[in-house]
Amino acid sequence: MLIHVPEVLSKPEVAEIRKHLATADWADGRATVGHQGAQVKRNRQLPVDSPLGLELGEFILKRIYANPLFMAAALPLRSVPPLFSIYSGGEHYGFHIDGAIRQLPFNQLSLRTDVSSTLFLSEPDEYEGGELEVQDTYGCHEVKLPAGDLILYPSSSLHQVTPVTQGERVCSVFWSQSMVRSDAQRAQLYQLDGTIQQLRGRIGECPELLSLTGHYHNLLRQWSDL
Ligand code: NI
Repeated sequence: MLIHVPEVLSKPEVAEIRKHLATADWADGRATVGHQGAQVKRNRQLPVDSPLGLELGEFILKRIYANPLFMAAALPLRSVPPLFSIYSGGEHYGFHIDGAIRQLPFNQLSLRTDVSSTLFLSEPDEYEGGELEVQDTYGCHEVKLPAGDLILYPSSSLHQVTPVTQGERVCSVFWSQSMVRSDAQRAQLYQLDGTIQQLRGRIGECPELLSLTGHYHNLLRQWSDL
C-alpha cells in the first residue's frame, strides 16, 4: 500500500529545515546499509549520531505522529530517528529492499522495518530525475512530491531513487515498526477506518457505525502485536 500524506510540514517549516541542512556536514550514505545496498547506493546523508540530524528528526517525527493520515495508514509502534539524504550530480540509489531490522541509537532496542517513509524536502522543480520508484504487484510507481509531503510504502517492496541529473534532491527517510506486521491487514484496517470516517461525516452517529467501529477495533486487537 502506497499512501501519499500531503503537507506533513508547512513550506516555512521546510525552508527552516533546509536552512539548517545547508550548513550540515554530509557523509557517505553507504554507512547505513548492508552489502547489497552499498553496491547500489550513491548519495550523502547526515551521520546517524549527528546532533543536527537528531534535533531535526525529532521535530519531524513529532509532526508525523500528529498526522491522522500517517497514523491510520502506518499504525506505528515505534520509528527510528529520521535520516537526512542529499542527491546531486548523478547520485542515485539503485533497486534494493530496505534491511529488515534496524538498531535504535543510544539503546539496545531493535525495530522491525514494516513501513518505509520518504519526506520530500525539495520542490519537484528544484531537480531533474530523482524519482522514487516503488514496485508492487500492480507495477512500478513513480513518486516525486512537493516539499513537505510524505510517501509511505511497505518496507518489503523493491524500490530505487533514479539519478539526480540536475539540482539537488533533499529528503528525510525513516522506518517504522507497525503494530500490524502484514501490509495486507494494514491496508484492510486503513480502508475500513476511512469508510467509517466517511460514513460518520455523511450520516452521523448510528448503531451500524458503532458496530463497524467495533469491528475495526476487534480486528486491530487480533492482528496487532506490541
Ligand atoms: Ni530504501
